Amino acid sequence: MASDRTLLVTGASGHLGRRVLNLLLAAGTRSIVATTRHPDRLADFARRGVVVRRADFDEPESLGAAFAGAHRMLLISTDATDGAELVPAESHAGAPGRLPPKDRDGSERRRRQHEAAIAAAEAAGIEHVVYTSLARADTSRLVVAADHVATERRIAATKLGYTVLRENVFTEVLLMVLPSAIASGALLGLPGDGGVAYISRDDSAFAAATALMTSTGRSTLELTGSEVIRRAPLARIATDVTGKDVFYVALPPEELCRRWQAAGLPASYLLPFEQATFDGQFAFTTTDYLRLTGREPAAVHDFLTANRHALARAA
Ligand SMILES: NC(=O)c1ccc[n+]([C@@H]2O[C@H](COP(=O)([O-])OP(=O)(O)OC[C@H]3O[C@@H](n4cnc5c(N)ncnc54)[C@H](OP(=O)(O)O)[C@@H]3O)[C@@H](O)[C@H]2O)c1
Repeated sequence: MASDRTLLVTGASGHLGRRVLNLLLAAGTRSIVATTRHPDRLADFARRGVVVRRADFDEPESLGAAFAGAHRMLLISTDATDGAELVPAESHAGAPGRLPPKDRDGSERRRRQHEAAIAAAEAAGIEHVVYTSLARADTSRLVVAADHVATERRIAATKLGYTVLRENVFTEVLLMVLPSAIASGALLGLPGDGGVAYISRDDSAFAAATALMTSTGRSTLELTGSEVIRRAPLARIATDVTGKDVFYVALPPEELCRRWQAAGLPASYLLPFEQATFDGQFAFTTTDYLRLTGREPAAVHDFLTANRHALARAA
């Protein structure tokens, strides 16, 4: 599957970026450019033949030289949301599952960053852009969806080929939430039957690398796991994997945040995602991952079994 084109990965020093670089190298890709604000962090990849260049989307003038010569680009959405996802807990008070009003102003800074990257890609003559977006971004009430939607539209307004990869919630989020649930025996959440078709970072990286190497045309894919995991079954999986009794405990939003905070969890970060879960935003599956990559995504049970040590750490 090795590509004869020069493949560019932005934000390459992050979790997803490093995984994609490893996959491109393993596939025998001859020409890879990795851009990052911190080239020193990619010295190991430079030693393996990756051309590492400095690029900062907040400095559009840095992008022309950084993108020069590349044919295809993976634009990894940045983490610069300026706390836009941090909707204060108070705004969720009231009936469980109530969502904050739609806020399409969202995280303006990230939208500007992506706009600069796309404009530079056009100027550099890049032919195809792969972009990491959010599950059902176009109908999402999550505040951080607004900049994904703006970026998707900006890409669609170019003449470039593109593959938008709308990623469901990363399975790795469970490694943040489950240890305290396993330690206390209580998996906390809002009342209701909310579920998530989790997809792991490894699988997301495989999809991104595959799209970067092979995708043509203009398409938007929804990358999900192969099953929707609801709360009570998730508690049972945690029990099965660790041997400790874990039960789903439904709480109203204020109490949920209080208990999360007491457990040392970032309540204001987690609550909007919990609300969106309650709203069903992540409770759907597609075969897009299988069709793109030719393989099934990792099941949550298998993922947690493989990461049993990380679950047990806090237990
Ligand atoms: N679906 C989910 O559950 C989920 C969960 C987490 C994240 N995400 C999304 O997926 C993306 C990748 O995830 P990840 O785990 O790899 O996150 P990560 O490790 O935090 O990586 C984010 C990358 O954004 C890049 N970045 C930040 N500011 C930048 C700027 N000014 N210019 C250029 N690049 C910039 C950074 O690149 P350098 O430091 O190399 O410059 C960093 O490597 C995230 O940014 C987020 O949009 C989705």
